[in-house]
Amino acid sequence: MGYPDELTRLLEEYLRQIAYGEDGAVTPLTMAMNYSLLAGGKRIRPVLLMAAGQAYGMAPERLLPTAAAMEMIHTYSLIHDDLPAFDNDDLRRGKPTCHVEFGESVATLAGDALFAEAFRLICERQEAEPATKLAVIEEVAVATGVQGMVGGQFLDVAGLPDDGQESLRLLHSLKTGRLIIACVHCGGLLAGAPEPELTNLRGFAGELGLLFQIKDDILDVIGETAVLGKQAGADARLQRSTYVSVFGLEEAGRLALSSRDAALAALGEIGGETDTLAGITNYIYERQL
Ligand code: IPE
Ligand code: IPE
Ligand code: MG
Ligand code: MG
Ligand code: MG
Repeated sequence: MGYPDELTRLLEEYLRQIAYGEDGAVTPLTMAMNYSLLAGGKRIRPVLLMAAGQAYGMAPERLLPTAAAMEMIHTYSLIHDDLPAFDNDDLRRGKPTCHVEFGESVATLAGDALFAEAFRLICERQEAEPATKLAVIEEVAVATGVQGMVGGQFLDVAGLPDDGQESLRLLHSLKTGRLIIACVHCGGLLAGAPEPELTNLRGFAGELGLLFQIKDDILDVIGETAVLGKQAGADARLQRSTYVSVFGLEEAGRLALSSRDAALAALGEIGGETDTLAGITNYIYERQL
C-alpha cells in the first residue's frame, strides 16, 4: 500500500474552504495566515490523523476539522520556527517565509492566530460526544505545550546539556514526535478505538515521530533546497545538535531504518486495519522532501 494521496486532496480542499477572508479590517493578518497554510507542504499530520481514524472504520471526511486544526498548529510552528529569533530562514514550502513576506510582527501574530483558530475549529466543527471532544482538546494542548512541541523548541534553541542519544531522542520526541502522537491518538479516539488500542497507536506514533525528525536532520544535510522547498544546511549554520551532527550520516541512516522497523513492528500490535499507516511509514522513511 502506497501513500494515501486521496487524504491529502480531501485536506487541501477543506483548508481552501475554511480560508480566512481577505477583505476585512485585519486583512494583512488573514492574508499571512492563508499564505502559509495554503502554500502546500506534505500534510503528513492531518493525513495520519485521518488514516488512524480509518483504521477503526471512521470516514476521513468526518475527521477533517481536527485534521485541519493539526495542520494549522503545525503551520504556526513553522512560521515561528523560521523567525529571525529562531532559525532565521527565508524559504519555506518553496516560497519566501511568512515574516519575509509580511514582516515579523504580522508573522508572529499569524502563528498565534492559527494556534487559537485551530482550537476554535475543533470546538465548532468537530462532531463528537462532549467528553471525547474535551479529551481531544486536552491532548492537543498537552502535545503543543511545555511537555510537547514548545518545550522541544526550547531545548533546540537553548542547546542540549549533552549530545548523547537519550538527550537527542528527548529533543526530537518533544519538538516533533509529540504532535505526531497527538494526531494518531486523536484519530483513534474520535473513531472510538478502545483504550489498549490507543496505547498501541501511541507506541507506533512515537517511533514514527522519531523517524520523521531523523529524516528531517538527514535531508538538511543531503537534500537540495529546490526539492525541499526550504534552505538545506540550516542545522550546520545554526550549530544545532542533530542525528547527523552527533552520529554522522551513516549511523543516522541506520537509526532511521531501525525506527522505521520499530514503527512497523508496533503496527503489528494494532487490531485495526493498518495498511494505510504502514504506507505512510514507508513514505516517511523514503521521502526526499
Ligand atoms: C518540518 O515539517 C518541520 C519539522 C517538524 C521537522 P514537515 O517536513 O512536515 O513540513 P511540511 O509541512 O511538509 O512543509
Ligand atoms: C522545527 O524543526 C520543529 C517545529 C517547528 C516544531 P526544524 O527547525 O528542524 O524544522 P525545519 O527543518 O526548519 O523544517
Ligand atoms: Mg528549528
Ligand atoms: Mg527550522
Ligand atoms: Mg530541520
